[in-house]
Amino acid sequence: MEKTIDESKQGQSLVLEEKKGNTRKLFIESYGCAMNFSDSEIVASILSEEGFNTTQSLEEADLVLVNTCSIRDKAEQTVRKRLQKYNAVKRINPKMKVGVLGCMAERLKTKFLEEEKIVDLVVGPDAYKDLPNLLSEVEEGRDAINVILSKEETYGDISPVRLNSNGVTAFVSITRGCDNMCTFCVVPFTRGRERSRDPQSIIEEVNELWSKGYKEITLLGQNVDSYLWYGGGLKKDFDKASDMQKATAVNFSQLLELCAKAQPKMRIRFSTSNPQDMTLDVVETMAKFNNICNYIHLPVQSGSNRILKAMNRQHTREEYFDLIDNIKRILPDCAISHDMITGFPTETEEDHQDTLSLMERVKYAFGYMFAYSERPGTLAERKLEDDIPEAIKKRRLAEIVDLQQEHSKFNTEQFLNQIVEVLIEKESKKSSEHWAGRNEQNTMVVFPKEHYKVGEFVNVYVEDCTSATLIGKAVGLSDNN
Ligand code: SAH
Ligand code: F3S
Repeated sequence: MEKTIDESKQGQSLVLEEKKGNTRKLFIESYGCAMNFSDSEIVASILSEEGFNTTQSLEEADLVLVNTCSIRDKAEQTVRKRLQKYNAVKRINPKMKVGVLGCMAERLKTKFLEEEKIVDLVVGPDAYKDLPNLLSEVEEGRDAINVILSKEETYGDISPVRLNSNGVTAFVSITRGCDNMCTFCVVPFTRGRERSRDPQSIIEEVNELWSKGYKEITLLGQNVDSYLWYGGGLKKDFDKASDMQKATAVNFSQLLELCAKAQPKMRIRFSTSNPQDMTLDVVETMAKFNNICNYIHLPVQSGSNRILKAMNRQHTREEYFDLIDNIKRILPDCAISHDMITGFPTETEEDHQDTLSLMERVKYAFGYMFAYSERPGTLAERKLEDDIPEAIKKRRLAEIVDLQQEHSKFNTEQFLNQIVEVLIEKESKKSSEHWAGRNEQNTMVVFPKEHYKVGEFVNVYVEDCTSATLIGKAVGLSDNN
């Protein structure tokens, strides 16, 4: 079993409010990470200025855009299948144009136009501002492509159109790209070098969200802990910055503090943290502000020092334990989740046992677990043979998924007979009589609706639980409203 991030949303088509006067119809769907979903909101915003309103019906679309993911081969295959579906629709509606956005666009570039005849438009993650020009080319009957990666944050000045929003929670991107070069990972190639967004524009977005009624934001980046604003430019060029720029630079813990102070009632989350870049001042800032949620997604990928080294993860198992111990010391009720890969090249049974024992030691609240998928162009693909048979990768994956299941149950049971604060997000998927929302540790909580409303903070007494969900009863509004 493979667990992907936010499975419920994968491939969901996105709809936004109609802009009056717009006559063209855009169907946009997203795969992969939260950053893609957030980028699609930027794309919708750019295209709403070009006369496009979104539609949920593929059949009536003038323009179909798919925001793609390259992280594993399976993610790419899913997109290829969707292209076949678009092809079938295009036979009925030949005027429909099809564009590919995101990581597959960046990875495959012109190859996409050669391999998939249906595709008219290929746009990499940093080139969305060029969409109006690219669309004019497509309308004149030419294929169009822009996959140039940028040195600047790129979209800081665009106010994203919130797609399919519950009106309560929103993503705010703070960095783009990644410089870490984990040997298995395609992200540094598809999303380019790391750069940070001006804190001023981040705070403005947070304030705007609050004024529109949003109650929770997630600051997004491939590696949020390495956020560093010194006036623009790539993170790797920070050494060349002036003394003045260095003295006034803003790091991630300072950014967190700025956000927490700007809107003291807004719940603040962030994702993703990287053990090698996370510093304790971030954890201390979390402890200082009640509105920063006690939850850290802290991928580790493997419990074996030998494999961590081969993955170019810049920390050992022991250093990771130190970080975990410090987090638990400073924030005793902090939930921690992980990403793990089984079957990285050369992984032995002993390495796999190290992963299981690391999980036993940390007892994560939840996790996203994957079988290794070789990605073209990565260092692992060039230097190492993908030598672990699929059946072994899958068996090891099943073992870590089972262990995680036990730990998840162990973690949810800790909330039994306790009162947790929940931000109501939506109706429960399983019952129209119940609300669903998360506590600050990011665990889903469901409870009878009574007179409560979406967007309210409610205290819920937890009576029962599964490994993924707390089930309870509201005992009143929390002080946070
Ligand atoms: N820092 C990023 C990580 C992106 S990739 C973030 O914001 O979440 C998400 C997860 O996918 C990684 O943590 C890793 O566990 C998994 N992954 C990445 N490349 C992979 C590969 N080649 N095969 C299997 N899983 C992979
Ligand atoms: Fe990928 Fe490692 Fe960056 S997993 S996104 S290269 S931190």
